[in-house]
Amino acid sequence: MKGVVLAGGSGTRLHPLTRITNKHLLPIYDRPMISYAIEALVQAGITDIMLVTGGTHAGEFLRLLGNGHEYGIERLAYAYQDRPGGIAEALGLAERFAAGEGILVMLADNIVEHGFAGTVRRFETQGSGARILLSEEKDPTHLRHLGVPAFAADGRIERIVEKPDEPPSAFAVTGIYCYAPDVFEVIGTLEPSGRGELEITDVNNWYVERGSMEFDVLEGFWGDAGESIDAYYAVNDFVRAHGANKG
Ligand code: DAU
Repeated sequence: MKGVVLAGGSGTRLHPLTRITNKHLLPIYDRPMISYAIEALVQAGITDIMLVTGGTHAGEFLRLLGNGHEYGIERLAYAYQDRPGGIAEALGLAERFAAGEGILVMLADNIVEHGFAGTVRRFETQGSGARILLSEEKDPTHLRHLGVPAFAADGRIERIVEKPDEPPSAFAVTGIYCYAPDVFEVIGTLEPSGRGELEITDVNNWYVERGSMEFDVLEGFWGDAGESIDAYYAVNDFVRAHGANKG
């Protein structure tokens, strides 16, 4: 399986910090944010990785990560997203890199306490469709800024609602997704949302509607450091006190 780390976007929720750098280069405790996603993928056994970024600071990623060998990456490819057209648009840039293999996608502002090697293994056995990671989140104020699944009576996901006013469950859809190679055909069918972006939730709902979406629930802490400045500091405080990417 190959890995795709998405580090584009405009980071407006962390303005003015993100006027002078890319959000994913801001520090989380003692390292740039992007290092945590890279480390999580390598820990999960994924060492063939594409980083997608954009904006005026793209060159800094090359300076930080180089060819990736220092991080345990075998091959690190880069793609440039011309404008922040959405998570699904950024993922579309990895089509040739994926070259018909399954992929694990991680948003570079996501930080996990524990790794997800088990999810990668289960998706390899699953062999088709999609598999996402959820995180239990009781505070509805967070859920209103995230994707939230609604569950059917049999426990399967019946739909995912993006940034709901009334969260249909107490679970967040994290930014960690496994897809079969047909994800690039799905992206080709998407229309921009009201905010002008190709939405990853539309991709996920495509699999939900076809009954081919599975999920796991992450253990321990999960944070979206790009959700707000307070979330950014909450993630920093957690990582400083407890660490991240523990086995
Ligand atoms: O973090 C989990 C959440 O991520 C999910 O719960 C939501 O369902 C999902 O839509 C997403 O929501 P966000 O509002 O956090 O997405 P955001 O626009 O902040 O983008 C997240 C990351 O995706 C960002 O850190 C970099 C990457 N990205 C985003 C955009 C819009 C790109 O690479 N290119 C883009 O054009």
